[in-house]
Amino acid sequence: MELPFAESYKIKMVETIRRSTRQEREAWIKEAKFNLFNLKSDHVFIDLLTDSGTGAMSDKQWSAMMLGDESYAGARSYHNMKKAMKDIFNFDYFLPTHQGRAAENVLFSVLVKEGHVVPGNSHFDTTKGHIEFRKAKAIDCTIDEAFDTTAIHPFKGNIDLNKLEKVLNDNPKEKVPFVIITLTNNTAGGQPVSMENIKAVATLSKKHEIPVLFDSARFAENAYFIKTREEGYAGKTIKEIVLEMYEYADFATMSSKKDAIVNMGGFIGFKDQEIFRQACTYNIMFEGFITYGGMSGRDMNALAQGLDEGTEFDYLETRIKQVEYLGNKLIEYGIPIQQPIGGHAVFIDAKKMLPNVPKEQYIAQTLGVEVYIEAGIRGVEIGTLLADRDPATRENRYPELELLRLAIPRRTYTNNHMDVIAAALKNVYDRRDSITSGYNILWEAPIMRHFTVELEKS
Ligand code: F0G
Repeated sequence: MELPFAESYKIKMVETIRRSTRQEREAWIKEAKFNLFNLKSDHVFIDLLTDSGTGAMSDKQWSAMMLGDESYAGARSYHNMKKAMKDIFNFDYFLPTHQGRAAENVLFSVLVKEGHVVPGNSHFDTTKGHIEFRKAKAIDCTIDEAFDTTAIHPFKGNIDLNKLEKVLNDNPKEKVPFVIITLTNNTAGGQPVSMENIKAVATLSKKHEIPVLFDSARFAENAYFIKTREEGYAGKTIKEIVLEMYEYADFATMSSKKDAIVNMGGFIGFKDQEIFRQACTYNIMFEGFITYGGMSGRDMNALAQGLDEGTEFDYLETRIKQVEYLGNKLIEYGIPIQQPIGGHAVFIDAKKMLPNVPKEQYIAQTLGVEVYIEAGIRGVEIGTLLADRDPATRENRYPELELLRLAIPRRTYTNNHMDVIAAALKNVYDRRDSITSGYNILWEAPIMRHFTVELEKS
């Protein structure tokens, strides 16, 4: 008999979570103004809001924390991180930051100016926020297949080279500070970018003398997909693939809360010493001195260890197979999800799941609230609330996809939890005909409204 797959770790410490009643959840979500971000975590049974900073660190990471050097300048922990930066990515220069958006803030303070355009594959919301805040424009050049949840494509995160070329031809190089490749493409469903596409984007950008920035949050999951899906990579290690990927990056911003499996942290990687030097000033102003940048020594130690563990095949296989397990259960129950299944999350196609809710009433948010009420499971809307208003017209931007993202924290839940999630989704799907209305906005912030929006039932 062939042995079934099992996790490549065992559990040493646990945290209690509590179920609640439907009646309790109905009251709590109303109190939270139907915004899942406003819920107390104690009122959530299975928390799939994000895979960011929510993973379980290993015994080796915890022991690395005990060895943290808290010196203000030149700490051993900084040098541990510097070594990881060189070994894993081949970056000679780097700055620690407290998380990914801080890395964006520091780097974009050097590079992004009013009137610039920044092409990329579905810029993450804080990335877009940092671009638009500087009165520049993010242009999404993701391939069209990404917007059809049923289209099967092994690298749905890819950049469409024709779309990119048009942006690069229509704008002088002075107006394009860099091209962003988001690895994996979170917004489009945790979808990977192929090595072939990375190379082609870098070649095209180089032709136009424009540097390439990797938004690296899930770079290791991306490498796993290259290894398992792209011809010629099956025999390479994840670390070899990562090194090859980063040959094509001029800069990287990183939210270490994802693939470096820490609760807090980030960094900027640079190949160019001059840009690094300019960024140092902003790092000191916004984050902290250049050898700690908003992180304590113990956190830098855990991060260096996490980068090593996070780029091991066995860990990644366990991780991605769990996401796949949940996705396949949902497919089995007939629930419409983004396919192929992504690296860090399962994305439910809310328009197909709740066909009777008008788009003006925030379909994916409505689904998120229903799933919470059903079983205390918290996902996150990736739809019209997140897409925000057009900065010029202030009209709602209706994205092609209304998604509910169920992000799976790393090494945190078991497949029994995945079974509960799938059953809850099935129950909501079975009563979809009775869900005919959604929500109206009571209050919203002028930018990145989804975090704090207050809603009422339509
Ligand atoms: N880039 C990507 C692709 C991300 O997914 C995130 C965060 C960031 C940048 C910003 O990093 O949170 O450390 O400041 N994504 C989280 C998520 C929040 O839930 O997907 P951060």
